Amino acid sequence: MTPIVITKSEAKLRGQIWEWRGSGETIAFVPTMGALHAGHISLIAKAKKYATKIVASIYVNETQFAKGEDLDTYPRDHAKDCAMLEAAGCDLVYIPRTMYGSHHSTTISVGGPALGLETNHRAHFFGGVALIVTKLFNRVQPDIAIFGEKDYQQLLTIRRLSADLDMPVRIIGAPILREADGLAMSSRNRYFDEIGRKIAGQLNIIMTQCAKDIAKGADIKTATTKATHNIQKAGFDSVDYVAVAHAQSLDLLSGKLGNRPARLLIAAHCKGVRLIDNCAIG
Ligand code: PAF
Repeated sequence: MTPIVITKSEAKLRGQIWEWRGSGETIAFVPTMGALHAGHISLIAKAKKYATKIVASIYVNETQFAKGEDLDTYPRDHAKDCAMLEAAGCDLVYIPRTMYGSHHSTTISVGGPALGLETNHRAHFFGGVALIVTKLFNRVQPDIAIFGEKDYQQLLTIRRLSADLDMPVRIIGAPILREADGLAMSSRNRYFDEIGRKIAGQLNIIMTQCAKDIAKGADIKTATTKATHNIQKAGFDSVDYVAVAHAQSLDLLSGKLGNRPARLLIAAHCKGVRLIDNCAIG
């Protein structure tokens, strides 16, 4: 087995990709912010089904954090992350020192699925994600890229971005991995103390019940209002949204669902940690 390449250098990354391309390899890319868990490793496993070489990046992207968010405290452990990626069969880990030059002035404005939901609460977020993903795609030049469905709105936004800007990258979604009690795996779960972690575990139970009710014909507004109430009753600090949206466009849906393809999406705060989760309905 060829040893994993770990590099901070853009030139080394480009050189390795060029060499692989020359020998007919295909490239799958898994961008991350590090603090890896089994969910990320499942993205690597999925990537291996689509390409012969797997590249992951680790970069805590400042442009997707707002003031007061956890940019400075976001967990960073490159040695552990690289060991996990190597064990998972990743071929190259790119850990750029910075992605933005001191004169960087370009922004990306995203619409479509980026509008509403997260954007109502984190206005800066998808512009920052679009910028870093575009820059990483330009450096890595992958054939495919894998994004987790845990960040469902992000996945659809990146799909829209890459289609709109003619990026020659196929965007593939990967299912959410959950802890034993159903909590979606997330790097930020490590922020919880014991009580917070127990409360957080209720989210998936409430979400699953709400999705079942809607699939069985409950009115969307009635079901999501009930779920919001149940999340608060479970001990969450506040709820940003509980919404049902079209599975591809993310247009909000109301009334009875019928046979429309839909996703239930939730964001709520639990003991100071913001959680997002989602599931398909029906
Ligand atoms: O989902 C994430 O971890 C980040 O938003 C991403 C896609 C790596 C961009 O920084």
